[in-house]
Amino acid sequence: MENAVTIEPPMITPASAPQQQVASDSEPDAAPERAPAFEVERLSIFYGEKKAIDGVTLTVPSKMITAIIGPSGCGKSTLLRSLNRMHELVPNTRVEGKVLFGGEDIYAPDVDPVVIRRRIGMVFQKSNPFPTMSIADNVLVGLKLNGVRDRAFLRERLEQSLRMAALWDEVKNDLHKPGVSLSGGQQQRLCIARAIAVEPEVLLMDEPASALDPIATAKIEELIHELSANYTVVIVTHNMQQAGRCSDYTAFLYLGQLIEFGSTTKIFSNPTERRTEDYITGRFG
Ligand SMILES: Nc1ncnc2c1ncn2[C@@H]1O[C@H](COP(=O)(O)OP(=O)(O)OP(=O)(O)O)[C@@H](O)[C@H]1O
Ligand SMILES: [Mg+2]
Repeated sequence: MENAVTIEPPMITPASAPQQQVASDSEPDAAPERAPAFEVERLSIFYGEKKAIDGVTLTVPSKMITAIIGPSGCGKSTLLRSLNRMHELVPNTRVEGKVLFGGEDIYAPDVDPVVIRRRIGMVFQKSNPFPTMSIADNVLVGLKLNGVRDRAFLRERLEQSLRMAALWDEVKNDLHKPGVSLSGGQQQRLCIARAIAVEPEVLLMDEPASALDPIATAKIEELIHELSANYTVVIVTHNMQQAGRCSDYTAFLYLGQLIEFGSTTKIFSNPTERRTEDYITGRFG
């Protein structure tokens, strides 16, 4: 994964429809000097007959934070979930195009989606601790399901994951209390600890702070920033300030199409596309 040396700028090329003009960030200095995490190529996703994602091509840089923004229903969650095949849990979905992760096609017939989801973790909008499990078991459930039994190892991973999720100090004396006894913001950090515990390479986050107050939101944002030292993070957000504050790159989706992708600074200060500007300045959405 990490040994490739190609320098690939985050880029976007026009998708299948030739008339579909997609603006791209051409700043040469925007190139991270690593192989990309994901290369999405002409991706379309269907729920039955409904095309929710329409010919999206984009490169997601590794160990950076990429935000996906756009109005409700434009396909943000669908695009995010397609990065670890989570959308397949909905019946009758269909995919056209490719998603390469570390250069490998995650939709190839011999790829096990369970393995993909272990390597590419997900944090949902609504925190979802397992109601009958303790704080500790909520964090360790993935490892235990994978057959890990070594108590010293589990104890160490528990502390490490909770520390990384900036929750350890608040719960270290309550590890056996139910996960659902925590506050909303703590539960969301618990879910982040659970996602981290299996040591994924990527964290996908779908509006992880939308149900939280400003203080809890600030904590989650700080945490996302810290996680990006070790992880590729892709975050969906409705909140423009949040995308502006906490991401390196931003993708603007509209009606299933990628309208513009580039460095967050460029997208928020000098977008190429009129529709991007209208959206980020609140003229629609
Ligand atoms: N399970 C599903 N079955 C059928 N259609 C779906 C399903 N989930 C989403 N869609 C459709 O796909 C399109 C994109 O939905 P998606 O949830 O990805 O949008 P979104 O940008 O995340 O919206 P929001 O900001 O409201 O969360 C919408 O038109 C939606 O109706
Ligand atoms: Mg959504």
